Amino acid sequence: MPKLPLNQTFPGARPIAYGCMGLGGSWGHEPYKVEHVKQAHEVVDAVLDAGINFFDHADIYTMGKAEQVFGEVLKERPSLREQILIQSKCGIIFEDDKGPKRFDFSKEYILNSVDGILSRLNTDYIDIFLLHRPDPLMEPDEVADAFSILKQAGKVKHFGVSNQNLHQMSLLQNSLDMPLIANQIELHLMHLDFLDDVVLSNNVQGKDLSFTSGTFEYCRMNNIQIQAWGSLCQGMLSGRDVSSQPEHIQRTAELVGKLAAEYQSSKEAILLAFLMRHPAGIQPIIGSTNPARIAASAQATNVTLTREHWYALYVTARGQELP
Ligand SMILES: NC(=O)c1ccc[n+]([C@@H]2O[C@H](COP(=O)([O-])OP(=O)(O)OC[C@H]3O[C@@H](n4cnc5c(N)ncnc54)[C@H](OP(=O)(O)O)[C@@H]3O)[C@@H](O)[C@H]2O)c1
Repeated sequence: MPKLPLNQTFPGARPIAYGCMGLGGSWGHEPYKVEHVKQAHEVVDAVLDAGINFFDHADIYTMGKAEQVFGEVLKERPSLREQILIQSKCGIIFEDDKGPKRFDFSKEYILNSVDGILSRLNTDYIDIFLLHRPDPLMEPDEVADAFSILKQAGKVKHFGVSNQNLHQMSLLQNSLDMPLIANQIELHLMHLDFLDDVVLSNNVQGKDLSFTSGTFEYCRMNNIQIQAWGSLCQGMLSGRDVSSQPEHIQRTAELVGKLAAEYQSSKEAILLAFLMRHPAGIQPIIGSTNPARIAASAQATNVTLTREHWYALYVTARGQELP
């Protein structure tokens, strides 16, 4: 697999990342089982075989169990640690006896969370640490303090954010003495606000878009790696039954199949190639735990969509002609 085209922080990083949200069993509080550790070994093997060396975690995935089973893999295969990049996130707290679902970017919460992540993963450090979802009560200086402590302690190498717009990143960056290097946001053929934001500039149809204009440009100008979550559209366009879906979804799934045949590749590869054709150097994160789908996804690095095919996918998936 070629190297990442944009962000130079990790010269060895590959263009596709693996998201570990599906590891560890259920989202309940019961402990993980032996079968989940076995699955984690199989998934890690499939991911490495596919040429992917970047693993995305979060402290909340399957209530910490995704990190725990990954930690079991690292415990059994310690030499793996230096061959891979590990990213994790914190900031989301699910409803508990203290309050409703909420976000927390306080210094104390961040520091405790990273200690929990390291302990569950059985590692001394993580390569990238992201703030998961924007916390309206964030004090940028407090976050900066936490980041500095984590970096000095060698617990975290680099920092980034997730689900943030350019204003939020800019506010935080203003307090940091290190660069934010990644922003992980939802981007895929069934979530196209990031492109509509561009084509509907100065057009009344763009008035209700949820994407904050300028976020892509900010990331590109500041060498912030854009990571795409949900990049396989949960399988909606690459094999799941779409007969009850709106017509444009059915037509998009059909087109994905046609292009897969034309490029002699997989449907998953077409979905990812759509993101990777964007000049921002988007890094898709795939969340499949199915080894065959992981291998099929990796074929995306061999596909460069023509402009015409890229637009055909975009226009079909948005279900409406461009202005
Ligand atoms: N930052 C954030 O806020 C945020 C939010 C969500 C996710 N993420 C990250 O992004 C990663 C990917 O997200 P995601 O898992 O939501 O997205 P995804 O990669 O689009 O979807 C993966 C899911 O779709 C299923 N799937 C894929 N192809 C399928 C097919 N042909 N038929 C049936 N099922 C199919 C997979 O099942 P199988 O396992 O059976 O293949 C898996 O459950 C996560 O692991 C996580 O690391 C981040």
